[in-house]
Amino acid sequence: MEKSIDQIRDEALADIETAPDSDSIKALSVKYLGRKGLLTLFLRHISTLPQEERPAAGKTANITKKQLEKRFSEAIERFDKINYSKEDRIDVSLPGRTAVQGVLHPVSQINLQICDIFKRLGFNVAEGPEVETDYYNFEALNFPKDHPARDMQDTFFVSDNIVLRTHTSPLQIRIMEKQAPPIRVIAPGKVYRCDSDLTHTPMFHQVEGLVVDKNISFGDLKGTLTAFVHQFFDEDISLRFRPSFFPFTEPSAEVDILCVICRGKGCRVCSQTGWLEVLGSGMVHPAVFENVNYDTTQYSGFAFGLGVDRMAMLKYGIDDIRKFFENDLRFLRQF
Ligand code: DAH
Repeated sequence: MEKSIDQIRDEALADIETAPDSDSIKALSVKYLGRKGLLTLFLRHISTLPQEERPAAGKTANITKKQLEKRFSEAIERFDKINYSKEDRIDVSLPGRTAVQGVLHPVSQINLQICDIFKRLGFNVAEGPEVETDYYNFEALNFPKDHPARDMQDTFFVSDNIVLRTHTSPLQIRIMEKQAPPIRVIAPGKVYRCDSDLTHTPMFHQVEGLVVDKNISFGDLKGTLTAFVHQFFDEDISLRFRPSFFPFTEPSAEVDILCVICRGKGCRVCSQTGWLEVLGSGMVHPAVFENVNYDTTQYSGFAFGLGVDRMAMLKYGIDDIRKFFENDLRFLRQF
């Protein structure tokens, strides 16, 4: 017998002390208490001792065995506890997890900006149905059934008499039917036309405007729209009123602004003309007033309609309107 039971015990306790993890404790327990472990061998060796030494040696060895067993299981438990709390520990130096915050769609943002400017100019905001009758979408706006101006509005028909509104102008009629002058109102909303390319989508957005009162003149129209364009783009942008035709206004004018990209030099966005069309407008046609029983000898008014998506494209420098509706978050997150 080379080592005494005390030596074996002291070595085992020292080993336990320096073991780095629970796996090495398990290995140590095999080293000392396993089938060929040091303490096991010692116990087997007792039978070779002189008769009188056996009882004392056996007793000490068994006590030592129990003691070591206890130490091994305590050590394993201790390591398991450390590992558990490591996983559970909170690293306060990690950056916080912020909740993902949504933003308004760029077209909605521009729509709100447009409405805000008109609200500051004293306009109220109204809304109306996207599925319209032929009467409100065309007839009451002085588009007779066979009028060629209907051709320009590539209409989605729900049935013979029901359409997806092709513009927000039906709101002019709906508002005037309900309300007597003075009127100063805008009507934002979705409109639909059977059209799709770089600058057209089957659904797009317009803001309609209507002002009716005594002594409203073309000067009021010019002043209001100039104030709007200057606030929306910037104070220095030039604009021009170009004669045009709409069945529900007379005279009618389209409003162009100096190209915001090339400032009039000519570029791809303005098709080399130096100008960009942003609005349709005009003095309300007497036939429209008659359809809502307004007294044309007392009242006059102007109306306008602008394309919200187009304004968004110009403001953000986007050359393909379809990008707004593809729901690609990489595109939308930029705004
Ligand atoms: N509704 C016309 C369109 O979508 C735009 C428009 C032009 C509206 C002149 C108006 C206006 O109110 O006066 O093409």
